Amino acid sequence: MNDLPLNAPPGVERILFTEEQVAQRIREVAAEIDAKYHGRELKLISVLKGSVFFLTALARVLETPVKIDFLSISSFGASGFNQTTPGAPGVVRIEKDLDEPIQDQDILLIEDIVDTGFTTRYLLQTLAGRGPRSLGICTLLDRTARRIVQVPVDFRCFEIPDRFVVGCGLDHKQLYRNLGYIAVLDPER
Ligand code: IMP
Ligand code: MG
Repeated sequence: MNDLPLNAPPGVERILFTEEQVAQRIREVAAEIDAKYHGRELKLISVLKGSVFFLTALARVLETPVKIDFLSISSFGASGFNQTTPGAPGVVRIEKDLDEPIQDQDILLIEDIVDTGFTTRYLLQTLAGRGPRSLGICTLLDRTARRIVQVPVDFRCFEIPDRFVVGCGLDHKQLYRNLGYIAVLDPER
């Protein structure tokens, strides 16, 4: 049972993973990645803005040499926790593309959370079309209970229950990204 810190912002209902637990788990996953890509060079790609916190935390504890690149997307329909158009297919579009090509490179897509899977599947298909040498997925959080389309998650830090969470890059209306822990949010609180 994690007690709420005194300075927890309004809305934070309970802490799922403390800052220490997150850091520890990221080190463990980094070791798995180092083992898999041993002797190679890796490019970490993430989607602005949520995944940036996880990408930098992971990059700092990886021993594998890494390059980084970013893209940004907008999603409509079923993608995202609160569906704007319930039942509509997840439609995702690239808003800002990567700076560099990824052809013949080992690519690891870094996600904050894989939820329905629409966003990740779209990104995978888009990146796969550019001829990378390999393409993997590493996510901080995985909520398989809400999965609609299957995506092959290669590395994940935590499986989470079907509750809306914030912190470590995840937002609610652009707030809470900078929390060091992962918390369940109750916006009514
Ligand atoms: P998917 O396409 O349904 O897998 O949605 C993934 C995106 O939805 C994530 O990259 C987040 O931006 C957002 N999202 C899904 N669940 C949560 C949550 O619990 N907290 C904050 N953002 C979320
Ligand atoms: Mg978001």
